Amino acid sequence: MKIGNVQVNNKLFLAPMAGVTDVGFRAIASFFGAEITYTEMVSAKGLIYGKGKALSNSVNSKFLKENPKFAQNKSAWLLLNEQNDKIKAVQIFGSDSKFMAKACEDELLDDFDIIDINMGCPAPKIIKNGEGSALMENLDLAQEIIVSCCKVSKRPVTVKFRKGFKQDNAVLFAKMCEQAGASAITIHARLMTQGYSGVVDYETIKKVKECVSIPVFGSGDVKDKESLKKMLETNVDGVLIGRASFGNLEIFKQLNEFVKNAEPVSMVSFVTKDNFFSDVLTQDDLKNLENNEKYVKYICAKKHISILRKYFSESYIVKYMRKHMLWYAGCFKNPLLKQEIAKSENLDYSLKILKELILSDKQS
Ligand SMILES: Cc1cc2nc3c(=O)[nH]c(=O)nc-3n(C[C@H](O)[C@H](O)[C@H](O)COP(=O)(O)O)c2cc1C
Repeated sequence: MKIGNVQVNNKLFLAPMAGVTDVGFRAIASFFGAEITYTEMVSAKGLIYGKGKALSNSVNSKFLKENPKFAQNKSAWLLLNEQNDKIKAVQIFGSDSKFMAKACEDELLDDFDIIDINMGCPAPKIIKNGEGSALMENLDLAQEIIVSCCKVSKRPVTVKFRKGFKQDNAVLFAKMCEQAGASAITIHARLMTQGYSGVVDYETIKKVKECVSIPVFGSGDVKDKESLKKMLETNVDGVLIGRASFGNLEIFKQLNEFVKNAEPVSMVSFVTKDNFFSDVLTQDDLKNLENNEKYVKYICAKKHISILRKYFSESYIVKYMRKHMLWYAGCFKNPLLKQEIAKSENLDYSLKILKELILSDKQS
């Protein structure tokens, strides 16, 4: 499959998620087999107006000195990339076509292969500005934005939207996106009013797939082989995985093996390929991983922190990583150790507790 001129070889992608899909998370997802990784949504106005505004002390000072263009923009930290990422997509949002087009040309986006436009966010503070899913009620403006972005972007422009705002207009919206020049679309088949509740409407995804000839990707509730199978039965060309990846990035390995009907590769063989984990892996880790594949969560947490340390200050990472550490610890029992992680002020201590938690292996 091709998205514009970008060759896509795999069907599973990491969904854009605000506050989650940071540079480390995306790099690890990519290593485990996410063919496309999306940044969280980035405000087009923030990109333009953020110019000249120094980043706070949350950023690693050595990195800032070496990368002045990042030093000068508040949104820049969302746009960091590791080089191993397969296909890199940046997601932008906004309701002003001039700002959106300007953002597409911004040098901070140079590293990305695809520009995705958010027309699905249900957050009240986004909707009140006519952004995100509010654009599903304003097809003329949505079209103007897509056309403006496609006109200036050297890379394929894609659109992610919902089933509708209050009512289903997904088919009409999908056709509009295609006509406006989008190279692919993603549908999260819930109405804005549903937020993340209720079930995903596979029938709508099917109808959207049938009504356009550009690639269509499905998003919503894929968490295991059964739910992936259901999504693939809609005939979508690709599937985004969101919440099921929290603390569980190895899901991309497992589900890719399922899609390809391939013999599962042992976790030890998998994590030792391409030197990706070499800066964090010890012989002790490999021994523990051999005894328990869930130990990969500790290795991922270590790598996640090691990547973030290149760009951010220790005090920033400690706070930011708390939720991720709890997700990595999620499937293991022992509330006391989890509490320790939740209140830890030290990343190495959190890692030590996570390791202890996994080695005691009181899995639920
Ligand atoms: C914490 C969180 C943040 C999200 N942020 C974004 C975002 O920035 N852009 C976007 O298009 N969708 C966003 N989404 C929606 C997801 O991309 C996805 O469409 C949705 O979660 C359904 O997929 P899932 O069931 O696999 O999680 C977000 C979802 C969550 C849970």
